[in-house]
Amino acid sequence: MLFQLSEEHLMIQKAARDFAQNELLPGVIERDEHQKFPAEQIKKLGELGFLGMMVSPQYGGAGLDAISYVLAMEEISKVDASASVVMSVNNSLVCWGLETFGTEEQKKKYLVPLAKGEIIGAFCLSEPEAGSDATSQRTTAIDKGDHYLLNGTKNWITNGNTASVYLVMAQTDVAKGHKGINCLIVEKGMPGFVVGPKENKLGIRGSDTHSLMFTDVKVPKENRIGEDGFGFKFAMKTLSGGRIGIASQALGIASGAYELALKYSKERKAFGKEISKHQAIQFKLADMATEIEAARLLCLKAAWLKDQHLNYDLAGSMAKLYASKVAMDTTVEAVQIHGGYGYVKEFHVERLMRDAKITQIYEGTSEVQKIVISRAVTA
Ligand code: CAA
Repeated sequence: MLFQLSEEHLMIQKAARDFAQNELLPGVIERDEHQKFPAEQIKKLGELGFLGMMVSPQYGGAGLDAISYVLAMEEISKVDASASVVMSVNNSLVCWGLETFGTEEQKKKYLVPLAKGEIIGAFCLSEPEAGSDATSQRTTAIDKGDHYLLNGTKNWITNGNTASVYLVMAQTDVAKGHKGINCLIVEKGMPGFVVGPKENKLGIRGSDTHSLMFTDVKVPKENRIGEDGFGFKFAMKTLSGGRIGIASQALGIASGAYELALKYSKERKAFGKEISKHQAIQFKLADMATEIEAARLLCLKAAWLKDQHLNYDLAGSMAKLYASKVAMDTTVEAVQIHGGYGYVKEFHVERLMRDAKITQIYEGTSEVQKIVISRAVTA
């Protein structure tokens, strides 16, 4: 077992860190305040290969491993979790699913521009009445021979308005339960497809979250991913990798808050010395550093399993469950260490605290991760 990053890994980590400092940090407070999507920054992330990191160069990707992805997600998320969620959804939920299960035609038409970051994708599973209970899809895709007729509503869709390509789960045969669900590739602009209003969120406010409405949308049969009825398994397999991405996002939010708190504690003086010299603060920093390291190891282990083509469902859920808790706990403590300054926007930690919460909710709540983990350990 070698706990050492390669030269290439270190290079990718540095490139992501530099990008976050130079391109994302300026303006991050304003984007959060005004719910402004980081369009220019996402375009540049795409040009640098960060939106199709694990996709083969044959399909326009950077051909990197999942460890590189974790490293880059951590660095980007330290500064701007609104940008990193776009990166995570595009890489894990859209590009990975298309590359692994798409047809050659689907890859050429959709994966190549998505992996190059020329367009952005969205993953549409959640519904008003199907969040954690994802098998209860109400959106229908009725088989009409050469096409499906898509009807229904999707909720909480990341990249809801900025995406051009949407992977939409829908029920074709209710009698078959989850085995009757299909995943269809839907294009923005298909007649009957309407994007609902933007959600006004607690955190990741720069990201673009919408509900989507489909009314008699004709989706060609060749836009179905996999065999008839494969949609639910497609969603579950895709989300397993997505959980590594969100775990790494949570890790980045935690380490970003920790670094700010550490720096502040060495500058701020109280009772005659820097607050980092007071044991009350030292103990907080010790807990934060230890928990972040444990979260990082869980993320890297899940990524390593994925790179070895071993099963990573359990490891990904453990990483997400733990890292998202660490993100929440660390950001709350980072605000506490900053005192009153932590409660105002200029010091960044209040934003990181708000951003942290979503990592315990999307791509499976903490309770969903516990279902996956408990089923695996009690099987
Ligand atoms: N890989 C392959 N197949 C899987 C799988 C996996 N990881 N997990 C489950 N399956 C299969 C099962 O084997 C089963 O198939 P069979 O019947 O053939 O055996 C089928 O899927 C149904 O599985 P379960 O019986 O376990 O289903 P369940 O109803 O008990 O639900 C669950 C399990 C884990 C709670 C699942 O519903 C789940 O993950 N829910 C959360 C959904 C989620 O993460 N939503 C997030 C939305 S996307 C998002 O947030 C993106 C964004 O924009 C940021």
